[in-house]
Amino acid sequence: MKILVLNGPNLNLLGSREPGVYGNQTLADMMAGLQDYGRARMIEVEWCQSNEEGALVTRIGESRGRYDGLIINPAAYTHTSIALRDALQAVALPCVEVHLSNIHSREVFRHTSLTAAACVGQICGFGAMSYQLALDALGAHLKK
Ligand code: DQA
Repeated sequence: MKILVLNGPNLNLLGSREPGVYGNQTLADMMAGLQDYGRARMIEVEWCQSNEEGALVTRIGESRGRYDGLIINPAAYTHTSIALRDALQAVALPCVEVHLSNIHSREVFRHTSLTAAACVGQICGFGAMSYQLALDALGAHLKK
């Protein structure tokens, strides 16, 4: 089983970005931990990060046939991007949306996700563990 994890804008700044909200771990450390977690479960994890909406759209568009499923933290694009939602719907790969923080307990503009409807489900609020829970959920979904 091979999964692509897509990370959106400003997640490259994790580690120093608002540690009270997002913790102290860098994205590279978080993704290395997720790759270990996947390896122990026979799931190969590839990951990428981009600050650019178009780059994420392109990467999603190229993912069909290469991956069994997707995990996405669209970051701020969660709340704005019809293009990402359309890309997820277009490739029709099972996808789990992830957020480190609980977007529903934050500012009102974060309560709406344009992308979640194109996903199997959404996991938020568990920090780095959100990604691990998403991998478990996606693995179970794919095995069904
Ligand atoms: C985030 C939540 C978003 O609202 C925010 O714009 C982010 C990170 C999270 O992982 O908690 O950049 O996706």
